[in-house]
Amino acid sequence: MVKIISWLLLSLLSSGGLVAYFLQQQYEEKSADFRILYRDVTIKLAQHDAIIRLLPANPLAWEVQKLFPHIIRLRQHSTIEPWRALVVGRKGQYWLNIDNQSLLIDLNRLVSDIRGKKRFSHLIIQWNNVPLFEQGAASPRDYWRWQKAISSRSQPFMLIADDRPDWMGLPWTAILAPALFWGLLVYLFSQYRSNKRRRDIADMRSQYAELTRLNTMGELAAGIIHELNQPLTAILSYNQTAQRMMRQQHPGQVSALLEAAVVQIKRIDALLQQFRQKLIGQQADYQPIVLGRLWAQVVTLLDKEISSKKIRVSSRIPDNLPLLYAPPLWIEQILHNIAHNAVQAQEGNKPGTSWINLTAKAANAGILLRVTDGGPGLSEQALQQVFMPFFTTRSNGIGLGMALTETLIQRLNGNIQVSNMTGQGGASFTIWLPVHLREE
Ligand SMILES: Nc1ncnc2c1ncn2[C@@H]1O[C@H](COP(=O)(O)OP(=O)(O)O)[C@@H](O)[C@H]1O
Ligand SMILES: [Mg+2]
Repeated sequence: MVKIISWLLLSLLSSGGLVAYFLQQQYEEKSADFRILYRDVTIKLAQHDAIIRLLPANPLAWEVQKLFPHIIRLRQHSTIEPWRALVVGRKGQYWLNIDNQSLLIDLNRLVSDIRGKKRFSHLIIQWNNVPLFEQGAASPRDYWRWQKAISSRSQPFMLIADDRPDWMGLPWTAILAPALFWGLLVYLFSQYRSNKRRRDIADMRSQYAELTRLNTMGELAAGIIHELNQPLTAILSYNQTAQRMMRQQHPGQVSALLEAAVVQIKRIDALLQQFRQKLIGQQADYQPIVLGRLWAQVVTLLDKEISSKKIRVSSRIPDNLPLLYAPPLWIEQILHNIAHNAVQAQEGNKPGTSWINLTAKAANAGILLRVTDGGPGLSEQALQQVFMPFFTTRSNGIGLGMALTETLIQRLNGNIQVSNMTGQGGASFTIWLPVHLREE
């Protein structure tokens, strides 16, 4: 649209300018014609004065008429001089009376003997505002007019010419050529612009792709750190305890510690496999979920923290829950992240007041999980931002646990909500997961 308008505007401007220029030229030419006509008419009229005075007493009329065909008759008055110097006759004729001589002059012939007179659409010779001679007809389309008084004492006529622009005579090819030129220019320019836009968009896309790739890599790296941190710390502590037991000659407990370390190592292995899957983009492994077993696994993984802080862990999972299909590790990670936060949130609790509870029930073609704890709950800001990557209130926190949790839940087409429990004030995370989905 803009293209068409700018093309039209440019074409109109340049063609309009050319039309105005050529019309001006036409006008100048006509003005020159008028000046020539005026000069010729003036000369002819002046000749009448001369002829009339030079005529012999008995003029040879035919000789005069041969030279001046527009003088139709000659007359001589012997005595009385005619009382008017100029008497209008019929059809463009008039009598010119000077002394005792009279000439009948035909303006039609006078004008037709002058070359170039045909160039005006309307030509008038008038005397005292009375037309003596008229050629062509007045038209409202004539908007050029030239008018000049003839400086003759005996024949003070007014010469008037009207004309109109010769539209057909304008050099239209030259006038319309700019439209073509502008059309081409506007076309080329718009072509250039759309090419440039396409290039810019392509550039932006590749930049964006690069950015998201970097983002994903960063997220993945941070995710790995976040997930490996806890089991590694646990393994370290199990091993240190085992060493101490050996030194204190209590080999009986070592086996249990090593077993706990093995569980953590297996988890690290599973996590690394999952990250590898993410990296090479493999399909996630959907399986029927046995919620009770997964929860027990999570509690085992957090066993060290739970037992050292004496946290009471409880759950209520009905047997008749609808079967959920999901990658088991995802569900484990979700529960682990929430439970781990619950443990950390209760670090400042009085001894014996810490607890974590999981309940599950069927709801809306899915299952509803709720994890609650006996901690202080979340601040107003944390309630708003807990799922944002890198939001953390802990000095050594990364702020990715809940962001990852939400991502996993969303990939399972579920949702997660957080609130504080009324009364006790602890945190409450509510997760809904649909059960009909077998695949991502
Ligand atoms: N159970 C909870 N009780 C109180 N605050 C919590 C709880 N769970 C999460 N939060 C808040 O949410 C923040 C983000 O948690 P998370 O994403 O796991 O990151 P991180 O554990 O590294 O801080 C925590 O720093 C904490 O302020
Ligand atoms: Mg956390």
